[in-house]
Parts: sequence; structure tokens; C-alpha cells
Amino acid sequence: MSYFEFINSVKICAGENALDNIVYELSFLKCSRPLILSDSGVFNAGVLDKVIDILKKSDIPTDAVFTDIPADSSVLIINYIAKIYSDKSCDGIIACGGGSVIDTAKGVRLVLAQQGEDILALKGNEIIKKGTHIPFIVLPTTCGTGSECTAVAVIKNHETGIKMEYISSELLPDTAIIDVRLTETLPKKLIASSALDALVHSIEAFSSAQKNPISDVYATTAIKMIVENLPITLKNPTKETRTNLALASTLAGIAFSNAMVGLVHAIGHACGGECGIPHGNAMAILLPECMKYNLDSCKNDYSELLLYLAGAESYANTPREMRAIKAIEFIENFENEIKELCSLGLKLSDYGVTSEQFPAIAQKAINDGAIIVNRKNAGVEEIIEILKKCL
Ligand SMILES: [Fe+2]
Repeated sequence: MSYFEFINSVKICAGENALDNIVYELSFLKCSRPLILSDSGVFNAGVLDKVIDILKKSDIPTDAVFTDIPADSSVLIINYIAKIYSDKSCDGIIACGGGSVIDTAKGVRLVLAQQGEDILALKGNEIIKKGTHIPFIVLPTTCGTGSECTAVAVIKNHETGIKMEYISSELLPDTAIIDVRLTETLPKKLIASSALDALVHSIEAFSSAQKNPISDVYATTAIKMIVENLPITLKNPTKETRTNLALASTLAGIAFSNAMVGLVHAIGHACGGECGIPHGNAMAILLPECMKYNLDSCKNDYSELLLYLAGAESYANTPREMRAIKAIEFIENFENEIKELCSLGLKLSDYGVTSEQFPAIAQKAINDGAIIVNRKNAGVEEIIEILKKCL
């Protein structure tokens, strides 16, 4: 086995009444005046109120709140919020939201910890050294990004339209709280797209050139939980299925934070940057065709995945040579089942993407960091062929 590193330093509080622990967690981290970050969707759905209500029962002040984080975390908003943190004399951060809110909070914390003013100045992993500790608690409100447990932040540079990946253990939050109260107002389509994003995290981590035996455990457990809990959560959700989905997303995040993601994310980031297609939707669309492209290089991993996707009986009844193809077929059928349950668009054209945009998407994709650990090389022409099949 070649050398590998694995890190997950995040304390995870999950399950029944987990959110009630936030006051203790803040005091444990010596945070007495948190800056609370969220977005308008989470705020308007009343989810943030559940957090504020709990904080108000303690002596933690709740007046430092910013809820205008846009759909894409960006350089401009991060630098702006970092100034608010200082102006309001905060001593910690609570991020309550999906990937954009969490990644924005990670960026804000990084700027402050490194005593900087501009997140762009911290681009390049080698620049980031151990900084000042700023208490940081994450409350994920979707079940897909896994960002609460990743050493990654995706931040958009609006000047170039490129989504930049920051990767450092300095981005890992202190605590993640997984509570069903945070995801119970999530619309069906968002449940589906975010859970399929988590499925892609797991599959890409499991078939990455940087995979390791520890990340495999997280990835395969997440896959099993998503397959078992997503359809039922869209049909007849229970507290247990919702919690399982949220937890699967966290497990998938730990997996890909250590093993990285691959071609699906490289093209998906480019689709987001070039066409504005939401991340989870891009992931669902691109996954089957990218797996077909990667098949000859990832056959063993995909074969093994059939066990976690379809179960032991299906795995045992499928000839060894056919297991990888069956795994891809399973995913196509699974995604179509999800589409039926919530009218999820599974074509790029469903989101207004046109073939004229393919060269620009492909050009961005080949420069995306996620492509580095994809087992099979992909150039502009190969990516355009994949995109054509997804149109
Ligand atoms: Fe993702």
C-alpha cells in the first residue's frame, strides 16, 4: 500500500435533540459571542429560528447575524463578512445552511485565522499554515455537501467565473451538529439533489486514485445509507430516514475530504461556473456517463460497489465480469426512480445548458483540481463527448 494520510478532527453530535448541545459546544470552545451565518432560504423557512431560540435560553448573544449569503460562496462575500466579524467583536462562528453557507463560513474563518483581509491572497494550499483558532460550529441544513466534515471549501471568483477549491485541514470545523430539525423543511427536490451529491462524493472517493482503506469504510457506509433512505424519505419520510440521510452526507464528506473526488466534480464545477447549474443537479446528471467513461480504469472498484448499492443477493447473483456494468445500471435506475418521485431534471438541457457552452465548460473542467485524482485522463474532447450524452 502506498503512503496515505487521513484526517477528521470534527466532533460530530448527531441524532435526537443534538441541536440542544450547541450551547455546551460553544462554551467548550470558549465562544461567547458567535457570528451566526445563514442564507435567506434557511432564514425564511424558520430553520434559523430553531437555533436562535435555543441560544436565547442561554446567555449567548444572538444579535450578530448575517443571512444574505448567496447561492455560490464567493470572494466578495467572504471578505465582506470577515469585516463584519471584526466590527462586531465576535469570537466564533456558527454556520447554519447548505454548502454555500458552510464554505463561506470556512473562507471567513480562514481569512480571520490567518490575519488576512482577502481570501484570494490565501489561494494555493502551500500558503495556509496553522493559524489562530477561531471556534467554528456547523449546522448543515441539507443532506448532501458533507462540508461540515471536509477540509475543502469551494469559493467562486466572480471576476473569472471559476470555482476555486481551497484544501487545508485548517478548514475543518470544530463541531458538526446533525439534527433532523435542521433538514425537515427541505423541499423534496433539494433532498434528492443533495443526497445524490453525497452519493457522488462516496462513489468518486471509493474509485479515486487517492482512496485508502479508511475512506473506503466511510464511502461504502454512506452509499448503503443513501440507497436505503433516499427513496423512502421522498415518499414517507420519518425522523430516522431524514437523520440517516443527513448522516450519510457527513460520512461521504469525510470520505471525499480524504480521498478526493474526480471527473464528475471537475465537470460539475465547470458547469456551475459557466452555466450556473446547481451543484447537486449537475452531479446527478453527470454521474452515470462519467462512470461509463471511467469504467475500464475503475472496473474493480465499481464491481465492489454493486454490493453496497444493490445488496448481497444481487451482488452474488451477478457474474464477476458484469458487476461494474450492473453497478452503473443500478445508479441509472436509481436516479430515474428519484426523478419520478420529485421531477428532478436529469438532463443538462433541463437547466438551460446548450451545446455551444460545451467547449468553455470542458476547458474549465480540465483545469479543475478534482480531475487530478480521476483514474482515467480526460481532455477537452473526451469531456465534450460526455457532455453531449448528458444534454
Ligand atoms: Fe459535491
